[in-house]
Amino acid sequence: MSETIRTIRMTPSAKEEDPIAFSRPYLGEEEVQAAAAVLRNGWIVGGARLAAFERRFAELCGAAEAVGVSSWTTGGFLVLHSLGIGQGDEVIVPSLTFIASVNIIRHAGATPVFADVDPGTYNIDPVDVARKITERTRAILPVDQIGLPCDIDTINEIAVRHGISVIDDAACAFGSRNRDRPVGSLAEVTIFSLHARKVVTTGEGGMIVTNNRSLAERLRRLRHQGMSLSDFARHGGRRTVIERYLEVDSNFRITDIQAAIGLAQLDRLDDLLVRRRAVAERYQRALAGHPVFIPPHVPAGLAPNWQSYQIALRPGAQVTRNIVMDRLYVMGVPTRRGVMASHLEPPYSGVDAVLPNTERIAATTLQLPMHPALSPAQQDRVLAALDAIVAEAQR
Ligand SMILES: Cc1ncc(COP(=O)(O)O)c(C=O)c1O
Repeated sequence: MSETIRTIRMTPSAKEEDPIAFSRPYLGEEEVQAAAAVLRNGWIVGGARLAAFERRFAELCGAAEAVGVSSWTTGGFLVLHSLGIGQGDEVIVPSLTFIASVNIIRHAGATPVFADVDPGTYNIDPVDVARKITERTRAILPVDQIGLPCDIDTINEIAVRHGISVIDDAACAFGSRNRDRPVGSLAEVTIFSLHARKVVTTGEGGMIVTNNRSLAERLRRLRHQGMSLSDFARHGGRRTVIERYLEVDSNFRITDIQAAIGLAQLDRLDDLLVRRRAVAERYQRALAGHPVFIPPHVPAGLAPNWQSYQIALRPGAQVTRNIVMDRLYVMGVPTRRGVMASHLEPPYSGVDAVLPNTERIAATTLQLPMHPALSPAQQDRVLAALDAIVAEAQR
């Protein structure tokens, strides 16, 4: 067996003495074999694996259609384009998000309008959304923050009242549930990321999920230069077929190699979620009532997929977030800052935005190691390091 395959098979069982990974895709022999089968078969793009992946993905979301694309970002761009959102239009979005959510709005030629977030869940605050609606608002783009579902029901109500679209940024939220409904079944359009840090990954990739069949059909054309036929129909048929190019678009395709890996990941979805929940619950128990760190708050009825585990420093903590991150790094615990405030980054620095919750949360949060193979012993090392920092600060 090759070195690569052995290395991948080792992934699910991190040992106590292994270096702690911040995040790690959970891949095994099944993914290797699935990708190899596509390579042997030779139909590596636009084929049956992609169609099967889209079908399974839509079913798991409780939606009619799923359209695979090369990333969340390209999917978001296609969705805005297909909804005719562009120059002169406004889209309401949280600033507290990975900057891709905002960049697609700019790329489409529209204006991002930032709404603040709820201080407890860090998800977009529907009251602020309602305040920010103008005659130019065409869509609300809420984010299911690191996998915690947003208040989509209230956001949908606002959207219906104003006749505008809801595009759910569920980049991190595949497998999450909101009052026992899967994320993906709750908005006009939902977009997921399949990047390596996500709960289900194909390396890079994205999935657009909707109940609107004609929108899905158009998205399938648009990801493929506006071509009237899929590769499957063109090359798999028995007769010569001449395709047409119905509108200007681009190449945002995902391969069948990725789709095959994605199908193998979907087979292990329940296990991935159970493992992540176990890691999260262990952190939650250890950090409940902690004097310095605030663990994440999960409102009743929401079941996050625990794509990330993010803590905040309590007001008045004797230590700053960046010092905590530096000290943890020295102690062998990799972290990332919490979700960013996009409006504080250079491309958006001229934007007039009053977002006190966003700015406070972005400055005081950090993310701890979280992945399905993180062992209890490794978690204990993370928690001991946090306590050591608190003891140092109090000296
Ligand atoms: C909230 C959010 N939106 C969008 C993206 C972009 O996803 P992708 O890297 O697949 O384009 C990410 C990526 O992490 C994200 O966290």
